[in-house]
Amino acid sequence: MSLRHIALFAAIAGVTTGIYPYFDTQDFIYNIPKVFRISITLDKLLEYYENKPSKDPEWYIAVELARGQMEYVINELDKSVPLKLKENLQNLTRRMDRIRNNTDVGRFVYRSKDYEYVAKALLDNMASVADALEPLTLGTVGTQKPYRFGFEQYVQEARTKMPSRQAADACMMQMLLTVLDGQTDQSDTCELTPECSQQLITGSALAFQQTTRIRAAVLARHFDCLDAMDLPAHIYKLCIQVYKEAKSLEAWDHPAGTRTLFMQQINYCATQGYGEFIKPRWMNKILAWQEGRGCYADERQPFMRLTGFVGPASGAANPDRQEEYKLKKAAESAGGTCNSLSSAMALGSLVVYVRALLESDQAFQYDILE
Ligand SMILES: *[C@@H]1O[C@H](CO)[C@@H](O)[C@H](O)[C@H]1NC(C)=O
Ligand SMILES: *[C@@H]1O[C@H](CO)[C@@H](O)[C@H](O)[C@H]1NC(C)=O
Repeated sequence: MSLRHIALFAAIAGVTTGIYPYFDTQDFIYNIPKVFRISITLDKLLEYYENKPSKDPEWYIAVELARGQMEYVINELDKSVPLKLKENLQNLTRRMDRIRNNTDVGRFVYRSKDYEYVAKALLDNMASVADALEPLTLGTVGTQKPYRFGFEQYVQEARTKMPSRQAADACMMQMLLTVLDGQTDQSDTCELTPECSQQLITGSALAFQQTTRIRAAVLARHFDCLDAMDLPAHIYKLCIQVYKEAKSLEAWDHPAGTRTLFMQQINYCATQGYGEFIKPRWMNKILAWQEGRGCYADERQPFMRLTGFVGPASGAANPDRQEEYKLKKAAESAGGTCNSLSSAMALGSLVVYVRALLESDQAFQYDILE
C-alpha cells in the first residue's frame, strides 16, 4: 500500500466513522449476490481500461475515487461477508492500482486550459477530495414525481439554463485558483465573482448544467469556499431536483445520449448520502448498459449540444441539430464507441452501490418509499 493510499484511507475513515447506522441486523447478507454481480461488471470494466489506458483525466479521477472507497469498504467488511467476495473486491483494487500504474498523466488530453487547471487541482488533492462521501440516510429527498412535460420540452428548457461546460470550467478554475495558489493576502479567499456565482449557484438548472453545479458545490464545500453559503442545504436542494430529473429520464425510457447524465446523477447524489438514488432497478440498468467489451458507451454529443451545455448557446432550437439527433438515435442500437466519461460514471455509481449494499441492511429499502 502506498503512502498515498494510507492517507486516502485515513481521510475517508476520519470523516465517515459510524457509517453503519442500521447495523443491528445482518439482513444485508441478502445483498451479497448483488455485490458479486456488480464486482463482475466492475472487473470487466477495469480490465478494459487496464488494457486500453484512457487519456481522459475524468476516468482517472473516477478510478482514484473508487479506489479510496473500495479500500474503505474492504477494511470495514462484516465477518459474515464471504471470503470469496472480499477477494473479488481486493482484486478490483489491484486492477485499479495497475490502471494507475499504467497511466501516463503527462499524456492526458484536456478540453481547455481552464479544465486542465481544474483537473490537475483535483488530482493533486485527490487524497482529501475522496473523503466527500457521506453515510446513506433513509428517505432524504422525498417522493418526487417525474416532470409532466416530455423529453423534447425538457431539452428546450435545458437550453435556457446555466452554466455551460465552458463557463463552469472557467468559474471552477477561478474558485480553485484562490484556494490553491495561496492568495493569502486576502482573508476572503475562495469567493466567486458575481458572474460565476450566478452561473454556478443561483437560478435553476437541468441536465449537465445541474450536475455541474453539484460538483462545483461539493468541491466548494470541500475546499471551504463560499462560507457565507449553506452549501449542504444547497446540495440537498439540487439533489431533490436531480432526483425528479433522473426519474423523468427513466420515464422517457432513457433517450439516446442521456445515460451518462443518469449515471452521473446517481453517482453524485448517492455519494452525498441520498438513499433514494440506490435502487435495485437502477442498479440493474447500469449493469445492463455495459458493452460486451467491458466499457460503457453513450453518444452524448448531440444531447449536450441540444441542451446547450456545449456549443454556442442560442435560445432557438436548431432544426439541423434536431435532425442530426434523430439520426443518431436511429443509428444507436448497434453498440457504441467506448466512452471514458460514461465509463467513469458507471464506475463511480456502481462503487457507491457496493458500499450501500455492504454497509447498510436498509440500502435497498428505498424503493418502497415511492
Ligand atoms: C483474484 O486474483 C488472483 C490473482 O489474479 C486469482 O488467483 C484469484 O482467483 C482472484 N480471486 C477471485 C475471487 O476472483
Ligand atoms: C508499477 O510499475 C512498476 C514499474 O513499472 C512496477 O515495478 C510495479 O510492480 C507496478 N505496480 C503495480 C501494482 O502494478
